[in-house]
Amino acid sequence: MRVAALLLAAGRGERLALDVPKAFVLLAGRPLLAHSLEALLACDAIERVVPVVPSAWCSGLAARLGPLARHAKLAPPVAGGATRQDSLAAGLSALPRDFALVAVHDAARPFVRAEAIARVIAAARAHGAALLAAKVSDTIKRVRGGVVVETPPRDECHAAQTPQVFRADWLREGLDKAVAEGRAATDCSQLVEALGVRVHVVAGDPDNRKITDAADLAWAERRLATGGGA
Ligand code: CTP
Ligand code: MG
Repeated sequence: MRVAALLLAAGRGERLALDVPKAFVLLAGRPLLAHSLEALLACDAIERVVPVVPSAWCSGLAARLGPLARHAKLAPPVAGGATRQDSLAAGLSALPRDFALVAVHDAARPFVRAEAIARVIAAARAHGAALLAAKVSDTIKRVRGGVVVETPPRDECHAAQTPQVFRADWLREGLDKAVAEGRAATDCSQLVEALGVRVHVVAGDPDNRKITDAADLAWAERRLATGGGA
């Protein structure tokens, strides 16, 4: 089963509110997307990595990646769309059909490790669909209109991470179904869940945290400065 990865990096980073898209913000001197790109390229199971970036940033990507730009597995960038789901669709349509498994990773998670990527790919090889997720320590409330409507059992609650890895045919079918039904998913797992597929959960590293706002970026800088490694 050939495996390709899509690195979703086409968001604007509105909550970070800097003058460049979030994936191009420098973290320890390198664009945010370079950190997880390095981990994806280092994972032996992955044959090709397709970065999906804002259209205006396609031509300048290689110059920003340094030596990583010359890696044999790195495909030319694809222009993303207005939403994460649109960017996923753009990346998927650029992928040759002979990749049976697709790993989708958010560039906003710079600290994913090649070892965790390999584990979630192995689970997807076995089951067709798998994601990294971490158990939550807070009790989760589902709230509507300022009122609690549900408290799911805490030991069943997990925070979804990426990569999420799927049979490419299931992911394409889930995406088509969501588009046809006018649904917008915030992660890929929802797309295949809606097909009735069982998505297997693989323990994610707590450090595989998403950089969303200025506090997250400051945390990431501190982590690298104190030798946490990327
Ligand atoms: N993403 C994308 N295309 C979009 C929107 C998001 O490829 N149109 C990617 C982002 O680059 C990011 C991942 O999806 O790696 C998760 O999205 P998020 O953390 O929300 O990033 P942004 O959309 O960039 O941030 P914001 O929502 O604050 O604008
Ligand atoms: Mg967003």
